[in-house]
Amino acid sequence: MSTAIAGETLTEAPEAISADHFVEVSYDDAIPNNVDLSSDKQLLRALETWHPKYLEWWKDMGPEGFQQSDVYLRTAVGVDPSGWAKFDHVKMPQYRWGILLAPKVEGRTIPFGRHKGEPAWQEVPGEYRALLRRLIVVQGDTEPASVEQQRYLGATAPSLYDMRNLFQVNVEEGRHLWAMVYLLVKYFGRDGREEAEALLRRRSGEQDNPRILGAFNERTPDWLSFFMFTYFTDRDGKMQLAALAESGFDPLSRSCRFMLTEEAHHLFVGETGVQRTIEATCAAMNKAGITDPYDVAAIRKLGVVDLPLLQRKANFHMSVTRDLFGGEISSNAADAFSTGLKGRFNEAKLAGDDHVLTDATYPVTRVVDGRLVVEQVPALRAINSRLLDDYINDCQGGINRWNKVIEKAGIDFKLVQPHKGFNRKIGEFAGHRISPAGEILTEEAWQAKCGEWLPNDDDMKFINSLMKPCHERGKYASWIAPPRVGINNQPGDFEYVKIY
Ligand SMILES: [Fe+2]
Ligand SMILES: [Fe+2]
Repeated sequence: MSTAIAGETLTEAPEAISADHFVEVSYDDAIPNNVDLSSDKQLLRALETWHPKYLEWWKDMGPEGFQQSDVYLRTAVGVDPSGWAKFDHVKMPQYRWGILLAPKVEGRTIPFGRHKGEPAWQEVPGEYRALLRRLIVVQGDTEPASVEQQRYLGATAPSLYDMRNLFQVNVEEGRHLWAMVYLLVKYFGRDGREEAEALLRRRSGEQDNPRILGAFNERTPDWLSFFMFTYFTDRDGKMQLAALAESGFDPLSRSCRFMLTEEAHHLFVGETGVQRTIEATCAAMNKAGITDPYDVAAIRKLGVVDLPLLQRKANFHMSVTRDLFGGEISSNAADAFSTGLKGRFNEAKLAGDDHVLTDATYPVTRVVDGRLVVEQVPALRAINSRLLDDYINDCQGGINRWNKVIEKAGIDFKLVQPHKGFNRKIGEFAGHRISPAGEILTEEAWQAKCGEWLPNDDDMKFINSLMKPCHERGKYASWIAPPRVGINNQPGDFEYVKIY
């Protein structure tokens, strides 16, 4: 679904997406869907039982406050590229979360692994049932987790436009949970129903019953974190969805393909959020005649975020997100690939490749005897490493666009990605102290410098001091520039959220 992925680039309309064909969505049912839910009574009953529990979860763990506000939201009403969404003011609890699959591709075959070329599975392949269920549960768990992480941000939104974007991301993550729950309930019987309930019971950051993956238990305490999260961590979501969209299990592939169309907007929110922050900083520096980006005290007095602090925030979010890819060398990932359940990024389009990888190798950076070395590893065991490399490449586009804004403003500063091994807790670099430049350090040397590389207490206090709500139509907090275009081309003073 490369067109959907392209939808995040700023050259296109913010919410431009694409899908292949038109499938009508049934909106008469309590659960909007294009999967002919009404004909499967057992499935419908299971989802109708889950629905009130989901709403309970939304009430408890969804956005704090604003539940009675009218929010200008887009709702997916189909998968037709020319009109898949409609925009309207909606109260969030009344949002129509639905089940939408990208259209079936007739004659689709499994694009990789030992079943390559066989017809794609329409039912769960019995021998891979446990592994497939786990993949769906892990993906599903990230969706409500991010809603929980972001639940307090409404109160400090820097504008109604941004508040609307936050809630848009939140309701769509809710829909992504629905997408995975549909698969669990439809294809995994009782086990699936139990997993669907467990997805509503785990809580981000909770000691006893946390979310499955580490980064989804971190706090998203402020708007800068939110923008970094939606740029860097939702991009992990994009990579995982893209890998699952290649799956030989066709219902999973079709679910993920449609989810990618929504994900593009989340990435857009992150990229433009950081970009607008940079714009405000550069404009304020220029106006005050400050040329040195490291004149932090003077810059902070202007009520904008200094660029070195943005770099530290980015370093943090990049490193915890890289951990989400799991160990670079992994037999689980090899299994998911060989069985045909989870492919690589753009699998079907990879040229010069047998898509089976029996004899292929892949270069993986490892720490050996206190040095970083690149080793050729069997490609099958390096699937995660490759997806992480693809992710790092994918991150660079937005960073380049951010740097252009800084350069245009005439400020001598460049945002960069830290070394892959920086601040990692999972995989090849775990247990090592590696600087952003890629030197292996002693614990002492790391401790002496890490305040320059990761947000320190002063940084967090300063960011916190900026988090004052700006909830007036057409107004923006000092630290962020207005967007160039409104959502769905609405004018600058549009009331994106009607707060009562
Ligand atoms: Fe999602
Ligand atoms: Fe997302």
